[in-house]
Amino acid sequence: MERITTQALAEKFIEEQIKELRAQIGNGKVLLALSGGVDSSVVAALLIKAVGQQLVSVHVNHGLLRKGEAEQVVRVFRDELKSNLIYVDAQDRFLDKLAGVADPETKRKIIGGEFIRVFEEEARKLEGIKFLAQGTIYPDILESGPVKAHHNVGGLPDDFDFELVEPIKFLFKDEVRVVGKALGLPDGMVFRQPFPGPGLGVRCVGAITRERLAAVRESDAILREEFAKNGLEGKVWQYFTIVPDFKSTGVKDGKRSFDWPVVIRAVNTRDAMTATVEDIPFDLLQHITKRITSEVPGVNRVLYDLTPKPTGTIEWE
Ligand code: XMP
Repeated sequence: MERITTQALAEKFIEEQIKELRAQIGNGKVLLALSGGVDSSVVAALLIKAVGQQLVSVHVNHGLLRKGEAEQVVRVFRDELKSNLIYVDAQDRFLDKLAGVADPETKRKIIGGEFIRVFEEEARKLEGIKFLAQGTIYPDILESGPVKAHHNVGGLPDDFDFELVEPIKFLFKDEVRVVGKALGLPDGMVFRQPFPGPGLGVRCVGAITRERLAAVRESDAILREEFAKNGLEGKVWQYFTIVPDFKSTGVKDGKRSFDWPVVIRAVNTRDAMTATVEDIPFDLLQHITKRITSEVPGVNRVLYDLTPKPTGTIEWE
C-alpha cells in the first residue's frame, strides 16, 4: 500500500474511507471513545464527514488530562464541527477511586477499569448503537514494543456485541498526522506528543492528591508553553513534568518553605525502547525553573532528569 505522505494522498485516502465507512455503516449509529489524542480525533473527524450525526462520541474527563485538553475536545468537536459529543466529567469519580493508591500498576488498573465502566454506563444510556469505532493504528496491530494498546475499549461486557469500525488501522502515526491535517484538525491536536492512557496519573508519583496533581498539570502547561515559544515543540519527542511524593526545605517570600520538587523530563527516541535526553539550553532551563517555582503553588525546586533510557524509563512509574 502506498504510504500517505502528502496532502493529495491524504485527500484520496479520506475520500475512499468516506465511501467505505458509508457502505459499512449504512444508517446505523456508531459509538467512539474520543480522548482528544490524534488517533481518536482523526477517526472522529472521518466519521463526522462520512455519517455526521450518526456518530456519537464520548469524551471521558478522568481528571488526569493536561491543562486545556478537555476544553479543546469540546471546542473542536461540539462547537466547531457540530458533532454529537457526550462530555462526561468523571474527575471526582477517578480521583476518589485512586485516593491512597501508590502502586503504579494498581493505579493503571484502576484508571483503565474505571474508564471502561464509565464508557459502558454511557453506552447503556444510548439506544440503537450498532458499531464501535476505534483509533487502532498499524503499530497497535503489530503490538510493537512498549506502545501500549490504549486505543480500544476492549473489556466491554460481551452483551454489547458491537461491530468494529477501524478506519486508520493500516496507517502509521506519521500518516495519521497527515490525514488529520488534511481533515482540518488543529495543529495542537494533530502534532501532539505521545500521551499515556493513564495521563498525568503516572506523573503524580505515588498516591495521587488533588494538590499534587494540580502541580503536575500547571508545571506541564508552563513547560509546554516555553517549549512552544522556544522552537522545541515538534523537535523534542516527549517532554513533561513529574511531581514526586516528597518535600524538601526551601525559602519562599523570606520564609522557610517545605514543598515539592518538580522534575522536568525531555527525551528523544525512535521507538520508545531507548531514549536520549534533550540538550535544553541552560538559560531556558533557568527561565522555566523561575516560572515554575513562582507560578505553581506548593513547589520550591525544579530538577532536570539527565537519565537516558536505559537506565531510566521515560515515565517515572
Ligand atoms: P516508558 O516509561 O516505558 O514509556 O519508557 C515508553 C512510552 O510509553 C508511554 N507509556 C504509556 N502509554 N499507557 C500508555 O498508553 C501506559 O500505561 C504507558 N506507560 C508508558 C510513555 O509515555 C512513553 O511514550
